[in-house]
Amino acid sequence: MIQKYKQNMDEFMIQVPTQIFFGKTALNDLAESIKQFGDRVILVYGGGSIKKIGLYDQVIKILDESGIFHCEIGGVQPNPRVSLIEEAIQIARENKVDVVLPVGGGSVIDTAKGIAGGYYYEGNFWDLAGKNITHDHVLPVITILTLPATGSEMATGCTLVNDHVTPHIKMGFHGPYIRPRVSFENPEYTYSLSKKQTASGVMDIMSHIFESYFSNEKRAYMQARTAEGMLRTLIKYTPIAFAEPDNYEARANIMYCSSWGNNGLIVKGNFVSWSVHGLENPINERYNTVHGDGLAVLTPAWMRWAKKPENLYRYADLAVNVFGLDKNLPEEELADLAIEKVQDFIQNVLGLPKNLRELGVQKEDIPKMAQVFSLPGKIEYQSEAFVPISVDGAIEIYNMAY
Ligand code: NZQ
Ligand code: ZN
Repeated sequence: MIQKYKQNMDEFMIQVPTQIFFGKTALNDLAESIKQFGDRVILVYGGGSIKKIGLYDQVIKILDESGIFHCEIGGVQPNPRVSLIEEAIQIARENKVDVVLPVGGGSVIDTAKGIAGGYYYEGNFWDLAGKNITHDHVLPVITILTLPATGSEMATGCTLVNDHVTPHIKMGFHGPYIRPRVSFENPEYTYSLSKKQTASGVMDIMSHIFESYFSNEKRAYMQARTAEGMLRTLIKYTPIAFAEPDNYEARANIMYCSSWGNNGLIVKGNFVSWSVHGLENPINERYNTVHGDGLAVLTPAWMRWAKKPENLYRYADLAVNVFGLDKNLPEEELADLAIEKVQDFIQNVLGLPKNLRELGVQKEDIPKMAQVFSLPGKIEYQSEAFVPISVDGAIEIYNMAY
């Protein structure tokens, strides 16, 4: 049993074993990657985008030519539902599969992780919510990514919607063996993403980076400079991907940021409390909004709310090292300029929503969402957060974003 490590530079543990096959020829290694675990897979996909881009046929051909048995579950919705996972677990059990193979974005990959974690579990699937599954009695997951956003292709967790209850609850589980063993990343599969899908994905990647970057652990210098490099990469390449959806270089850089922004590299060694993600979750589960849209609205509001005399250094770092502003300006001014730059990028470059009203949020729901925010299991390490958020604090931030 591994000891519990603090989340700071004094002590942490990191293990990132996902094997990444990146680029145009990546799928050449698909069959062999599957066969190290067995020769029976359940293919998981969403509403049909992989059929439109020809990827479904390509994968089926590889499986058939390699003698790999396949059954499938399609129809995964964005903000994936537990009822579909339960159905998929039955199909997987009846067909005695060895591997779960999601082809799609975060919702498809998270559904696959749900199948993997629930396959051998005899009890009620939702018992797993909020758990850290440390044992390896789960199915291996091998992903083919088509939407750079969540980083789920290289991350330990999944986020799932319990649609058996009203209102729905969105929670997940995680574990070292839930993390995909292998992921295939061909940027060409992302050429078909619309501007809006690309933007929401980039917002999610940025938010994962910010959650680590806005940390009180000043000694995590390497993680902070790496985070800044990723942010600069996204700021440079996103407009190029908008103008030329089939620009390989732009799509490749965005895709690689997705995986490394949420796999532990910049998280470990920092106190990461996932504050903005914690605030987004109650909106998402109540209104079934797009994850990136909620983050777009909340990020500038949270940045303004969390700015304090003692933490201006991090905002100033952002202003200077990411947005290239003059380091000789007063820290307070740099901090305000950094927030303006972030807001400008989100609203005017990404073109994402500006306030909670645009997401359909009802003002009278704000206190209820703030209560949900503070429920056990919803947020982690809040006491160590950049700025800890109480229920009243959450209400203030939601009101600022309204
Ligand atoms: O369903 P299909 O037809 O495939 O269409 C999807 C879906 O409508 C479409 N799409 C995907 N790839 C495409 C494409 N359309 C055209 N061309 C392609 N190449 O995109 C739509 C959205 O897909 P979805 O998978 O829902 O998006 P995303 O990747 O942003 O995943 C969001 C989910 O992941 C969770 C979110 O909460 C949300 O439920 N997250 C998971 C995390 C994790 N596991 O680590 C962390 C994140 O913070 C996040 O919470
Ligand atoms: Zn996210």
